Amino acid sequence: MSDRHKTKSRQSSVLITGATEGIGRATALRFAALGRHVIAVARSTQRLQDLQSDIDALGSGTCDGITLDVSDAAACLQTIGEAAGRWNITTAVMNAGIGQYGPFARSAWSDIEPLLRTNIDGAMACTGAVLPQMMERRDGSIVLVASIIGKRALPYNAAYCASKAAVIGFADALRLEARAHGIHVGVVNPARTDTRFFERMTYSTPQSQRRHVPTASPDRVADAILRCSTQRKREINVSPGGKLYTFFGVHFPRLSDHLLYHSVPKSTET
Ligand SMILES: NC(=O)c1ccc[n+]([C@@H]2O[C@H](COP(=O)([O-])OP(=O)(O)OC[C@H]3O[C@@H](n4cnc5c(N)ncnc54)[C@H](OP(=O)(O)O)[C@@H]3O)[C@@H](O)[C@H]2O)c1
Repeated sequence: MSDRHKTKSRQSSVLITGATEGIGRATALRFAALGRHVIAVARSTQRLQDLQSDIDALGSGTCDGITLDVSDAAACLQTIGEAAGRWNITTAVMNAGIGQYGPFARSAWSDIEPLLRTNIDGAMACTGAVLPQMMERRDGSIVLVASIIGKRALPYNAAYCASKAAVIGFADALRLEARAHGIHVGVVNPARTDTRFFERMTYSTPQSQRRHVPTASPDRVADAILRCSTQRKREINVSPGGKLYTFFGVHFPRLSDHLLYHSVPKSTET
């Protein structure tokens, strides 16, 4: 075993859910490049091993993988709780999430339920599992990855928007509870990001038309996550377009309704 690996149980570790692809993977590589020990969580053991190999090849940082389906809250409390007992988790990034597209009236509950369990239960249960040790040490940073459409919802994404609004509400409440214990709670709201997220999400109807939407790179979101944690930021809306969209949505809700109603292509089947 290398010296790098021998010392990792004493190092401060960063836990990242959904760490094997897209934003989570870019974030894992960013933290590893800073020499951090990354605890990567995802369902695919193969992709966790691929990430570990990539971090080994970096020659900076170390990585342990945890195969876990975060939609199972009881399993999160158990498994992440054990990880928090074993390692010194000082940063936790709750990033795992899935999407669903289509008119709510036509969306199957069998698509919606796993989304709510993954995006809400998973984020809350993993947070609950790392909190006791952070509170004991009076130190730690928790970053929740939500979405700009959790700030201003978009039609045909009702369940997804609801799940991300729930994450933002959870973070807003927890931030004030955790502050007295020296723990930071931040939210990063990505705009559309170039990952396989859209291939993996479920669709209750085909998208009526592919729109050109400016897309951020996963690295850009990873930078925001790192900044949110290290600078103990309250909330970061990623990308100028995301900031503008959120500003209009929050301050001009009726105008925003009007613009979205007329600009988002109507689903062909309602
Ligand atoms: N891409 C965007 O445009 C965008 C915009 C705003 C917000 N976001 C949010 O950003 C986060 C990351 O999105 P992304 O685009 O990077 O997605 P992605 O490329 O699809 O990656 C998702 C990651 O989460 C893991 N994951 C999914 N379900 C899981 C589960 N039940 N348990 C454990 N791990 C799970 C996946 O690995 P396994 O499949 O192996 O489990 C994968 O590592 C999500 O919360 C998403 O809602 C994305």
